[in-house]
Amino acid sequence: MNGSRILLVVSGGIAAYKAPELLRALRRAGHSVRCVMTEAARAFVAPLVLQTLSGSPVRSALLDTSEEGQIGHIELAEWAEQVLVAPATASFLARMANGLADDLPSTVLLATRAPVLVAPAMNLNMWEHPATRANLTTLRARGVEVVGPDEGELACGFEGPGRMSAPEAIVAHLALLLGPSSLAGERVVVTAGGTREPLDAVRVLGNRSSGKMGYALAAEAARRGATVRLISAPTSLPTPAGVEREDVETALEMRAAVHAAAADASIVLMCAAVADFRPANPVARKIKKEKLDSQDELDAPLDITLQRNPDILAELCRERSSSARFVVGFAAESHDLLAAARRKLARKGCDLLVANDISRRDAGFDSDDNAVLLLTPDGEVDALPLLPKPVLAARILDRVEKMRGARA
Ligand code: CTP
Repeated sequence: MNGSRILLVVSGGIAAYKAPELLRALRRAGHSVRCVMTEAARAFVAPLVLQTLSGSPVRSALLDTSEEGQIGHIELAEWAEQVLVAPATASFLARMANGLADDLPSTVLLATRAPVLVAPAMNLNMWEHPATRANLTTLRARGVEVVGPDEGELACGFEGPGRMSAPEAIVAHLALLLGPSSLAGERVVVTAGGTREPLDAVRVLGNRSSGKMGYALAAEAARRGATVRLISAPTSLPTPAGVEREDVETALEMRAAVHAAAADASIVLMCAAVADFRPANPVARKIKKEKLDSQDELDAPLDITLQRNPDILAELCRERSSSARFVVGFAAESHDLLAAARRKLARKGCDLLVANDISRRDAGFDSDDNAVLLLTPDGEVDALPLLPKPVLAARILDRVEKMRGARA
């Protein structure tokens, strides 16, 4: 993974105790991290912890001759490709907004030319105070990015916005800022998960799709700068950073959501496992084993009549008036992968088909990895090896970008 040089600035609030966890998450994501902290932050987290985790000395004082000799504050400001202030207290935000340079962290922030992300953490009343709001408006106008704060129980006993975002959420937000901007200005629609078709008040017909591939595609498209709408059938996955998610349950709900969102989308990635059939007569109540007219159990097999669902992908490909919208279909096949995928590509009429063999034990449904074939209408077939789904998402979007580029 291509990491960046991140300067982590820790200011003095209770959330500073999460700084070591954040630092570890940054390192895990492949970044090099150097850390500076305010004097007040030293009361909440020991510099030695941050020094050990970052592998570099941690400084607070501006005028420390020995440390300044090793790496000066201007050098630190220049070294950083991205500055992250976490936690950012109300006081520190005020100093940033006013351009104060009265300690090492504030001086580095004034000297750096790197983009800055702040993760505020403070008491609810301080967060809502007009002074803090005005400071944030000033900082945003200067291009400072803000992640959080989250709502919840605050260390001061209050309940509301003020908690620093979780370290993973901060790292995910950074990934958005540091990503390429190859899809900036594009509107991307992604469908994910497996639809559920109700049978009665408690039962559904579903499938084994976990949604991981679609969520990875949505995350990658957002990282590349796209505005992403993720239309998701039920999954247990968290919404990727920077992605707008709409939850649906059935194929018909998904169809309505896709048609509405696709109207102004330039790329549609139909990753969801849409049920081809739904129970024709879903029962509003629970289907019981007792016979209706007696206390006897119903022994005969229960027949369920299924009705065809519309093929959303095929509809979308048919209705597009120009070739401006790029539509990607997915195919899950249990046998004759290549032949079945070729037929499906022709039948659906999409611009690219991603086909995977669900009979493989190490890939596909619910797995973290997948191996796929990419098929294009002109007969090209590209076999991608077994890859983690986020890597595969990047390879698929690389292909989409290349094909769109060639068209343009
Ligand atoms: N799809 C869809 N609407 C449906 C069924 C599938 O939009 N009612 C989309 C899926 O999102 C996927 C592609 O069509 O992008 C292929 O899905 P798949 O289930 O593999 O194919 P089917 O069309 O169901 O064909 P078959 O059942 O013959 O495999």
